[in-house]
Amino acid sequence: MAKKIILTGDRPTGRLHLGHYVGSLRRRVELQNSGEFDRIFIMIADAQALTDNADNPEKVRQTLFIQSQVPELCELAFYYMNLVTVQRLQRNPTVKAEIQLRGFSENAVEGDTAQRAGIPVGFFTYPISQASDITAFKATTVPAGDDQEPMVEQTREIVHKFNSVYGPTLVEPEILLPDNAACMRLPGTDGKAKMSKSLGNCIYLSDTADEVKKKVMGMYTDPDHLRVEDPGKVEGNTVFTYLDAFCRPEHMAKYLPDYASLDELKAHYRRGGLGDVKVKRLLIAVLNETLDPIRARRKEFEGRIEEVYRILEEGSAAARATAAATLDEVRRAMRINYFDDTELIEQQAKAYANR
Ligand code: TRP
Repeated sequence: MAKKIILTGDRPTGRLHLGHYVGSLRRRVELQNSGEFDRIFIMIADAQALTDNADNPEKVRQTLFIQSQVPELCELAFYYMNLVTVQRLQRNPTVKAEIQLRGFSENAVEGDTAQRAGIPVGFFTYPISQASDITAFKATTVPAGDDQEPMVEQTREIVHKFNSVYGPTLVEPEILLPDNAACMRLPGTDGKAKMSKSLGNCIYLSDTADEVKKKVMGMYTDPDHLRVEDPGKVEGNTVFTYLDAFCRPEHMAKYLPDYASLDELKAHYRRGGLGDVKVKRLLIAVLNETLDPIRARRKEFEGRIEEVYRILEEGSAAARATAAATLDEVRRAMRINYFDDTELIEQQAKAYANR
């Protein structure tokens, strides 16, 4: 049976929050424990983070390296660049949205100050570099959020093109999206579209129990649910969205045994007679129970930083070995493996001898 391989990654540009947790981290642990995959590569995408942070390397350096320690990824990207048009890159919706978000100007004049003036070439081409990340490991599966769909789609196109030009070499990956809507796009504590650092609406994995309590108590609910007796709305109510993402049956049994399920709690809220504070208390308990083991592990690793670096160093070496093997195949397919192509050398020797 064909091997099932995962590759996924994150840019190390900020603290991890609950959106990352339900959107990818928790899923990765489940996938790892499912026993369904032959190998799982998880990459710290520091080189990609530099594509819009060239003037700000500290932001990247403070975190632990990896992507940049696998130079084979650059070489692959260099060859893939010839299989993608500028027009195709310009159509990538995630890149388009990020250009807006970063304030890069599409008609910057040369000589403008600050990097903000124009679009860095590396940024513009990062979907190609991401195709290298994925294909270097022959990943079949890329667990990620829906913002990564255009990247995986472009990767598939590159694979298709490469294989049809040079012969079957690379593997077409598939994206694996979070399995429920609440996990796909966890809203911020203010009820706004998405949890994001710039909006200041995050709950971080590193937050203390007190910080979590404060943030949940201030969370957006149903603005028309003024008195406890009023019927309330569950849809668009951030506290219930979070419960959808985090609350398991065991939590209900432990913290609100009077309700058989989360659905029963929702029904009560809709009917009226259930106050926000009671629902928020449940959420605080659930979140802190979820975060406690993460906090403990973080603390433990904070005392073993040298070891963390060693783990990453060993991981980078292992990733390099895999990427180098793929690169060998790529070179052979492209017939640019001159020095181990004895047939080619013999042929050339003969051709020149007979002149
Ligand atoms: N683009 C991803 C992000 O912004 C990070 C990333 C880089 C990635 N290479 C990847 C994700 C390959 C999945 C697969 O978070």
